[in-house]
Amino acid sequence: MFRFLKYTFLLLAAVAIVFIAWCYIPPARQSIEAADYPWKKGMTAAEVDQTARELLSQMTLEEKIDQLHGDQAYPLFLKGIVRWFVLGQGRNIAYAGRNDRLHIPPLGAADGPRGVSLLGKTTCFPVTMARGASWDPALERRVGAAMGIESRVRGVNYNLGGCINLLRNPAWGRAQETYGEDPWLLGEMGAAWVRGVQQHNVMACVKHFALNSLENNRFKVNVTTDERTLREVYLPHFKKCVDAGAASFMSAYNQVNGEYCGHNRYLLTDILRQEWGFQGFVSSDWIYGIYAASPAANAGMDVEMPLPRHYSDLAQAVREGRVAEKTIDEMVLRVLRTKLWFITRPDPQAYTPDMVASPQHRALALESAEKSMVLLKNEAGFLPFQPAKLKKIAVIGPLATAENTGDHGSSAVKPPTLVTLLEGIQTAVGAGVEVIYEPGINAQKAAAAAGQADAVVLVAGYRYNDEGENLSPFRDANDPVKWGSGGDRIFLRLREDDEVRIQTISAVNPRTVVVVVGGSAIVMDSWQSQVPAILMAWYPGMEGGTALANILFGKVNPSGKLPFTIAHSEADYPWFSPMTDTITYGPYHGYTLLDKKGKTAAFPFGFGLSYTTFSYSKLTGAKPVLSPTDTLQVLVNVTNTGQSAGEEVVQLYIGFENSPVERPKKLLRGFEKIGLQAGETKVVRFQLPVRELAYYDPTQKKWVVAPGRYAALVGNSSRDEDLQRTPFEVR
Ligand code: GLC
Repeated sequence: MFRFLKYTFLLLAAVAIVFIAWCYIPPARQSIEAADYPWKKGMTAAEVDQTARELLSQMTLEEKIDQLHGDQAYPLFLKGIVRWFVLGQGRNIAYAGRNDRLHIPPLGAADGPRGVSLLGKTTCFPVTMARGASWDPALERRVGAAMGIESRVRGVNYNLGGCINLLRNPAWGRAQETYGEDPWLLGEMGAAWVRGVQQHNVMACVKHFALNSLENNRFKVNVTTDERTLREVYLPHFKKCVDAGAASFMSAYNQVNGEYCGHNRYLLTDILRQEWGFQGFVSSDWIYGIYAASPAANAGMDVEMPLPRHYSDLAQAVREGRVAEKTIDEMVLRVLRTKLWFITRPDPQAYTPDMVASPQHRALALESAEKSMVLLKNEAGFLPFQPAKLKKIAVIGPLATAENTGDHGSSAVKPPTLVTLLEGIQTAVGAGVEVIYEPGINAQKAAAAAGQADAVVLVAGYRYNDEGENLSPFRDANDPVKWGSGGDRIFLRLREDDEVRIQTISAVNPRTVVVVVGGSAIVMDSWQSQVPAILMAWYPGMEGGTALANILFGKVNPSGKLPFTIAHSEADYPWFSPMTDTITYGPYHGYTLLDKKGKTAAFPFGFGLSYTTFSYSKLTGAKPVLSPTDTLQVLVNVTNTGQSAGEEVVQLYIGFENSPVERPKKLLRGFEKIGLQAGETKVVRFQLPVRELAYYDPTQKKWVVAPGRYAALVGNSSRDEDLQRTPFEVR
């Protein structure tokens, strides 16, 4: 018996050693470059369709099905996990569907929302939520284009970075991966990212379709909602990405109204394809994206990723009649047409290794971080610091020196360099000013440092294990969600040690600015009155320290605006529970919920201060009465009434004054970021098709523009006192 155990142990040890050694060998690369395939550049859509049909006609059933799933067999998938989490070798490209006999390229997929994820060292941009706070679609398109370039260099033609799930409750663990709480902002920013990535013939993947706004129980949770809420709140931003030409959607893990998204024909076929005319393909989320082959295929799920857990059964399903071969053919055609279309587009440039984390991309990461940070409070012009009046600055908090770019899940990015918040400040002040640093763990030492400084920068907030992706599908509903295990947050304020530190330090030195690091709303009421200044810095990416210093010292005028509501109390947000098996999403959350409750926010959606001031005047609507097919035109003068140049986000909300159906008090329906020199005035024009005011009528199954009284509300936040009003009527 002993001998048996000994030899068994030795055999297992040998297998383990061989497996680990095998894991060190990087997986084989599959070419995604047009030069390696015979397809003519510039094919028309008709030629692409014809070519796809000709290829299909030559395929065996097995070859067709090979187009419909990732080609990672379990050992290869396991190798990827070991390389990522054990060997620290980063991630592999997930391939699907290469066919050498017919010269068909694979899908070569990689994440993620803040840069090409863990394929060597790549540019780490500010998290998506930070970029949402820029309210700058043109900038977001440039960021998407940079990700497209780095995808091509890394051998990726399918970028999974387009997360646009609506932030319903800020506790959602993956809030940092999306652009905020409002469908209009989500749609504008998500569509900009899609256009940017696809500029470089990389297929953009928009995710997670749909209603994925809860993390810990995402693999199981059933989200129920009514038809109007689905249409008017949780889907419009996805539609905008379809209209932007998104190549692909990724279905969500969760259920919607009792059906898993990966099997949800209403979402994947009826709405996405038949109503919206989506021409691309749908892929599943990883591993647990579908639960059986035939219901998924018959619902419109094209590609199971990253391996054929269930689509290995598709051939049998066809033979048994559970899935018609015609259905398989339609799925294959969607995938082939999309791959052929993108690989036959003329490239705008070459793609070379020096383009990854290039000086241009680093500068873009810096610009993005500078334009995302939100100045929430600035009493008596406490900021920007005047170096001439500063001889000593204390920087306090462990996050000031952390490499803290955000979640370590699928959105993780490893930059070649990173400027920490402390390093940014140290570099900016130069020789004339002494910077002292205390992590703040030793309260006495931190207080002593603060007490001797002319000003204090107190960094507080979260890291990847405070909020992020839940990678364990086996979380038990009874498993008490512990802080620090990632996933959804169990409270929305800062951690206690941060709050204590703020109280202690601000008592010792009231000249303290709190710099908040995180990816979502943080309730600040318990401490925000203690300090004269608060800056939301987000997870600001690889150049975050420089961006912070540029704002603190006035080299850059902050222009970010909140992409979500910061409420006075957690109770002001919709009910949320990380481990619930079912949850109902209603029509109100964020600013629409506060409006409905007649409550105010601590810091409202769309709010952000500047070092200068702006005034709005001459708000006029072109026509007082409009038809449902008209376009609303609104003009407003915006003047920089301060002493320094700055950028302003001019926002247009529509007020529903006598709707025949229940509507929110107002909804965002336009925004424009403009730059103004001191004293300069610009005229901002909004043109909004009246159809954008429609509500969805579930009985008629169509969008309806109700006649009645409306108001165009224009200003620099969703707060009523920040909005000027011009009424109009629809007849
Ligand atoms: C994850 C995420 C998804 C990601 C995918 C591949 O589970 O939900 O956003 O793109 O797996 O990494």
